[in-house]
Parts: sequence; C-alpha cells; structure tokens
Amino acid sequence: MSTAGTWPHLFEAGAAGTPVLLLLHGTGGTEHDLLPLAARLAPGAGYLAPRGPVQEHGLNRWFRRFGEGVFDVDDVVRRAGELAAFLGWARDHYGIADRPLIAVGFSNGANIALAAALLHPDVVSRAVAFSGMYPLEGRTIGADLSGTSVALFNGTSDAMAPIESVTRLGSILESRGAEVERNVREGGHGIHPSEVDGAAAWIASHTQKVSHD
Ligand code: MLT
Repeated sequence: MSTAGTWPHLFEAGAAGTPVLLLLHGTGGTEHDLLPLAARLAPGAGYLAPRGPVQEHGLNRWFRRFGEGVFDVDDVVRRAGELAAFLGWARDHYGIADRPLIAVGFSNGANIALAAALLHPDVVSRAVAFSGMYPLEGRTIGADLSGTSVALFNGTSDAMAPIESVTRLGSILESRGAEVERNVREGGHGIHPSEVDGAAAWIASHTQKVSHD
C-alpha cells in the first residue's frame, strides 16, 4: 500500500490562477505519460501526476482486475480511497487547496478518475475521462454528485470500454445529480486530436466553478 507522502509522483505548480490537472496514466504507463497531453489541455496549468500503485506483470495500474474489462471492484474502491487520501495530502503539502483540481485520465487512469469522482466527490469533483467506462460494476452509488461535472470521451467500437458501460456510467452519474458531457466518436481505444480540443474547451469552461471549501 502506498503511503500518501511517499507515493511516486510529479508536481508542477503552474501559473497563478490556473487549475491543477490530476494526470492518471493508462495501464503500463508512468507519471510522465500525460505531461504532453496536459500541455495541450491547459497550457501553463499546474499538474499532479502520481504513478499507478498496482503491478500487473510489471505494468503499473490503478487497481487490480480479473481479466480485461473485469475489475476487482473491491480493489477499485480501496484504491480510489487511497488516491483520495493522496490528494488530501497533496493539497496540504503543495498548498493547492484553493486551486481547481481536474482529474484527467486515460483508459485505466480514466477508470480510477471516475471511481474517485463517484466515491469521493468532495475530493474529485471534475473529471475528464478518455476511453473510460463504469468502474464499479454491480455497486450502487449513494453519493450526492450534484457538485460534480464529468466529460466522457469514448469510441463507438472500443472493446476495452464498451459503449454500453459508458452509457450506464453516464446514467448513474446523472441519476446522482452530476453534470455529464458525453463525447462519442467513431473508433476504438485512444485519444483523438478532436477529443483533445474538446477536453481543453471543457476544462477552460469548468475551471472557474470549482471550490474545495
Ligand atoms: C482497465 O483495466 O482499466 C481497462 O480495461 C483499460 C485497460 O486495459 O487499462
């Protein structure tokens, strides 16, 4: 288990008045992977980029799974809690509690971002999820998500993030009061250039509205 203060991560404060992007890489990635994406999504913004704490055959991930798309949901819940604890530590340690925090995740990173948003909306209230899906299969969500906004970017033929799961995810988020922007394109797993533009616009329009009071 990772202790918050020793969790491998990168931090860059960024320019005053900018958000802090929480960058969550995909399976087999590292904390460095999404830095180029962050520079395109919000130039000059701060970032916090931890490394996925779970190992799968040497690949970094955010939670365990039994097979592709079959998640160990108990572990998803536990790891989302650990990530939330890390964010609490980072907010104090780096003095960013009054900065908007926007989670940006790809694939497995999108799934942990979504789990954190579903389970810890006090910590993660804004999330951009590229090729993510519903990460808590079989669980009901009791949290009030009325202060939550999520942007979903998915492909219609993504075997790793089936569109049925994405549809269910959107419905569950909305049923708890979250604002959901769905962006669906042709194709499979990945981040398309048009999605980067869309996510950048979404981040710009959601940066001023966040408060962690
Ligand atoms: C997951 O395990 O989170 C998804 O299947 C995506 C991935 O393969 O990382």
